[in-house]
Amino acid sequence: MTDTKRILLIISGGIAAYKSLTLIRRLRERNIAVRCVLSVAAAKFVTPLTVGALSGDKVYTDLFSLTDEQEMGHIRLSREADLVVVAPASADLLAKAANGLADDLASTILLATDKPVLIAPSMNTEMWEHPATQRNLAILAGDGVHRVGPDEGDLACGEIGAGRVAEPDSILATIEAMLANTSSDLASVRALVTSGPTQEPIDPVRYIGNRSSGKQGYAIAQALAALGAEVTLITGPTKEPDPLRARVIRIQTAEEMLAACLKALPVDVAVCAAAVSDWRASVPANQKIKRSGKSQHLELIENPDILGRLSAAQPNRPTLVVGFAAETESVIENATKKRLTKGCDWIIANDVSQKSGVFGSTHNKVHVIDEIGVEDWPVASKAVIAERLAARIASKIACRSIVP
Ligand SMILES: Cc1cc2nc3c(=O)[nH]c(=O)nc-3n(C[C@H](O)[C@H](O)[C@H](O)COP(=O)(O)O)c2cc1C
Repeated sequence: MTDTKRILLIISGGIAAYKSLTLIRRLRERNIAVRCVLSVAAAKFVTPLTVGALSGDKVYTDLFSLTDEQEMGHIRLSREADLVVVAPASADLLAKAANGLADDLASTILLATDKPVLIAPSMNTEMWEHPATQRNLAILAGDGVHRVGPDEGDLACGEIGAGRVAEPDSILATIEAMLANTSSDLASVRALVTSGPTQEPIDPVRYIGNRSSGKQGYAIAQALAALGAEVTLITGPTKEPDPLRARVIRIQTAEEMLAACLKALPVDVAVCAAAVSDWRASVPANQKIKRSGKSQHLELIENPDILGRLSAAQPNRPTLVVGFAAETESVIENATKKRLTKGCDWIIANDVSQKSGVFGSTHNKVHVIDEIGVEDWPVASKAVIAERLAARIASKIACRSIVP
């Protein structure tokens, strides 16, 4: 990472503002330049003097400062960075950003910027869970704003729950993944991504499906393409818009997905994020099955194991095969077993129980399991997780190409 990468860090008014001081130090240690904006409320929690001393740059707080406007107008301030980070992001600033308000320097920058934005929310649990905050977050996610955290735990107000700002190291890792997204680390790498659910017909109008939205797989295809990879996305039915610069192949059943995957080989990387139905009806009916007043028996047979087949696809095995394990219990234990039985290189484990709310959500919480062990990644938007995964894939591929 060179000094050419620049972060505009907006600190808003919350107790966790002090943690942004550590974040500034970590960024500087990585040679990432940080310019800071403090909201008026933030300046009650940390002083511009401390922030300026740590960032080594002028600190901006006032939208209507004549001196600041002459020297660095608010529009230029919002455009000169590679990434805008809001940490901590107060409930108030999130509400303003979601609604396009621009009545102070921080909110005006968020409205005026043409750069990616990452927020690290921090607040009391009731504030976090309030429907108004959740509505604002959904709007921001829809506007393409990335999020890291919050975590759960002890809060400064004495309560315990969700709302604790993500740790500075987690925010830093997300920032690095987002900055890496502007490179061409995967140029000339061919990638196959599977996504979405499959639909297995029972009769002409009914099918066996699942709740997968395809959001995570689409985000991965997008993130790999953004790093320069030549991406083929093989997807079951979803409502997601096509990722930019990816070839999209639509299928309905697991058998169609397997055939499309085998046809797409050889590739360098395969990421199997699809929620493939384990079973299909042994004999789908040709006509709609009618009610008969009696119970119906549906015989199910197992579908092909796409991840297992790609992991064993000699001589065309991709250099790196990444599987997903959607689990509702013993998440890490089951996913670790799955990595070994399928023979893939990495497994991304996620909790898809009803309480996790992962299916269909814009956010995810994953654990990355490889031959070395388990990495716990913080809660983040599916886009941020995809970017971080793409960056990890790029560094693995780069390592393999220098090892003979
Ligand atoms: C002691 C104290 C702690 C606060 N902590 C938080 C917090 O963690 N998160 C939050 O969203 N608001 C918090 N607030 C409320 C915000 O400071 C307040 O909504 C303020 O208007 C936010 O302004 P800003 O969004 O312009 O920074 C706190 C207020 C006080 C007095």
